[in-house]
Amino acid sequence: MPDVHFPVLSSERLRLRALCSSDAPNLLALYADAEVMRHWIHPPWTALAQAHTAIIEAQRDLESGRALHLAIEAWPDGHLAGSCALYDIAPEHRRATLGYLLAAPYWGKGLAREALQVLLAHGFGTLGLERIEAEVTPHNFASQSLLARLGFRREGRLHARWRVGGATRDVDLWALLRQDWVA
Ligand SMILES: CC(C)(COP(=O)(O)OP(=O)(O)OC[C@H]1O[C@@H](n2cnc3c(N)ncnc32)[C@H](O)[C@@H]1OP(=O)(O)O)[C@@H](O)C(=O)NCCC(=O)NCCS
Repeated sequence: MPDVHFPVLSSERLRLRALCSSDAPNLLALYADAEVMRHWIHPPWTALAQAHTAIIEAQRDLESGRALHLAIEAWPDGHLAGSCALYDIAPEHRRATLGYLLAAPYWGKGLAREALQVLLAHGFGTLGLERIEAEVTPHNFASQSLLARLGFRREGRLHARWRVGGATRDVDLWALLRQDWVA
């Protein structure tokens, strides 16, 4: 499948762009890190094929408009620092769900906030969304702080929402309404 076109979204230290097939090894490194994946809704990846499959799905979803799954590149060195997504895009309800992760060396520098500000601007602006949701496990304090900093509010707990590695996992549902968003 040829790589799909999507305009690059820029911030001071980052570039957000469509995932392409050559990202597979770096994407695997990101999603294979047990520390990065500690609060994720599936176990760490173990095979390059998982990265290739995810990239193909991301490209299909981008074409269909179902989801926007982007690479986060550090600027100007171009390293893959992480990935972020607006998925479950429901244009009829003007709603989508937000996902994000960064490689551990990039944590604690305000980079997730910087990336998500750009993605939220795209969601509320270009895509015309009115509500953006995120699901966060109760012990993922970094993610909760990040969402709170961006203006999200915790709306409640979804019990036994996911099964990961044979155990059930609760998540908290967070949401940001366009009217509460500070660009
Ligand atoms: C969650 C994650 C993306 C945060 O990335 P980050 O770049 O370190 O976050 P930022 O530096 O932009 O910080 C944003 C806010 O969260 C706070 N924060 C960051 N890490 C924190 C931590 N470990 N504990 C408490 N607060 C934390 C920061 O202080 C900052 O608040 P401030 O602007 O008021 O100072 C990163 O830790 C990560 O990739 N984790 C693994 C994957 C994951 O859990 N993704 C989310 C799934 S829901």
